[in-house]
Amino acid sequence: MCGIVGYTGMQDAAPILLEGLKKLEYRGYDSAGIAVTDGGKLSVTKVSGRIAGLCEKVSNGNACPGLTGIGHTRWATHGAPTDTNAHPHRSNDGKFAVVHNGIIENYAVLRQELIERGYKFESETDTEVVVHLIEMYYSGDMKKAIIKTVSRLRGSYALGVVCTDCPDKIYVAREQSPLILGLGIGENYFASDITALIAYSRNVIYMDDGEFAEISKDEINVFNPQGKTIQKEISHINWDVSAAEKGGFDHFMLKEIIEQPNAVTATIAPRIKNGHIELDDIQFEEGYLENISKIIITACGSAYYAGCAARYAIEQLTGLPVQTELASELRYGNAFYDEKTLIIIISQSGETADTIAAMKECKKRGSKTLAIVNVVGSAIAKLADYTLYTWAGPEIAVATTKGYTTQLAALFLFALYAAQKRNTVSQSKYSLLLSTIKSLPGKIQEALDMSQSIPKLAKKYCKTDSMFFIGRNTDYAASLEGALKMKEISYIHAEAYAAGELKHGTIALIDEHKPVIALCCNQTLLEKTMSNIIEVQARGADVLAVTSADNQQIVSISDDVLFVPKIDTVFSAIVEIIPLQLMAYYVAKENGCDIDKPKNLAKSVTVE
Ligand code: AGP
Repeated sequence: MCGIVGYTGMQDAAPILLEGLKKLEYRGYDSAGIAVTDGGKLSVTKVSGRIAGLCEKVSNGNACPGLTGIGHTRWATHGAPTDTNAHPHRSNDGKFAVVHNGIIENYAVLRQELIERGYKFESETDTEVVVHLIEMYYSGDMKKAIIKTVSRLRGSYALGVVCTDCPDKIYVAREQSPLILGLGIGENYFASDITALIAYSRNVIYMDDGEFAEISKDEINVFNPQGKTIQKEISHINWDVSAAEKGGFDHFMLKEIIEQPNAVTATIAPRIKNGHIELDDIQFEEGYLENISKIIITACGSAYYAGCAARYAIEQLTGLPVQTELASELRYGNAFYDEKTLIIIISQSGETADTIAAMKECKKRGSKTLAIVNVVGSAIAKLADYTLYTWAGPEIAVATTKGYTTQLAALFLFALYAAQKRNTVSQSKYSLLLSTIKSLPGKIQEALDMSQSIPKLAKKYCKTDSMFFIGRNTDYAASLEGALKMKEISYIHAEAYAAGELKHGTIALIDEHKPVIALCCNQTLLEKTMSNIIEVQARGADVLAVTSADNQQIVSISDDVLFVPKIDTVFSAIVEIIPLQLMAYYVAKENGCDIDKPKNLAKSVTVE
């Protein structure tokens, strides 16, 4: 997820662009740049690193005069965060500059075609194909060039384009990535979201998919994909600025919980082509996956719990033994691994010290490493032999949510991909599971839609000082993350426990002051978990069950129930976790906790 911004009017554009980019920095902050037209001159300045570095380079905008410009703050997806990969990207003839938020899924084919036509590429990004397409299609009419260019693009984009032939105009186009136009008096704006506009204008136009627009200081014309002018409603925004940064949500954590269907779509969709999984540019050596003897998954915190949940799918589909190891233990332990062991490293930040240390130990013994990571160019991404990015976009809240579910999505893709390579699933099973994976964003959305009762339930459960999360098999794996979410943002002691283990001692702790959240989505183990529910209720515990709507036997014995959509058991953690994230959020809110910045915690634990 990146941030784009643009301005045309009677003031110098650069200072306004920089201020807008600062407001969008939460959307991405590994590199930034601006392009400003001044008559027939186009100046492009871009840097890797934070926006402060860009401000310094352009003397807070004084170094690039001009009344029209575009800006970009990047969250790298294709190509590490470098000056060259930063946006805006410029055409070979120097006339055009483009900023982009989204992913051009067919960029590789377009890049090849453009290179064959003699266009020179500077960057590794998907975006650069756009500016060369515009140059190729431009013959004096920008509208036609835009229409032809976007007709070639597949994927998601919010584009901002400037051209030296029309230095007082900006062209924008939208497909699946947010794009908002801000209306001023003698000046107009565009941005990825309201945050960057609200200081200048509260009257906005929300662009819709397929639309593009021509913006000048006194006029905005919006067109449909065929170039026909359309009338758009003008909305008035009454949010305050801080609310705008969170998209109107009270906390980044809630915003990121709600973003999960889109984040999982962004992680899955570009990797499923013509009914097959393509894992980007991961090139396992011929026969590698067929010949490994085991997999070790290692990580910390929620990333580790994502590994615990994905383990079931990887084992069941590939037939390989999968061992999950805490990174802080693996690095000192005597676990066996060698060149026939694939080490899967999971990390949202890509900078977790213990995980990096464990990874280095594994590499010493010749094991290949596959990183599941959210930050392009992070230490773990650079160290890994193979990298499969989660395209969740920046995760601001300390408590991960979309980071966890996109890790699961990437791991499920890998599991099925490896199973096909190892010929351990039939073609019909492969197709069935692939369609289930494709349905995951919709299932997550259904789980969100089924969670309306949680704010009320949170009032009942928020006053406890201790609670248990129980489950078996995949339910137990989901309970690990559910308990951590509750602990880290509500500060309530919460323990995940294998339901079958309760009777071996822990049930001694159960009483009327210890509510139990029972995860009951594993259809084959429902009877067993029902017994556990009855056991803990007999000791006075209130039981909140998480199950699918057709499990009436669970509903009938539980004190409260949270429903999730039915899904193949091996993938169930990705939907079961949704109500548990929301339960932790609303309990913490009831308790007045600092949800986005919980006490004692950091977003990335870069120390041991
Ligand atoms: C999760 O909500 C926590 N913030 C924490 O457990 C986190 O998952 C852990 O520190 C690992 O971080 P990473 O994914 O960036 O490596």
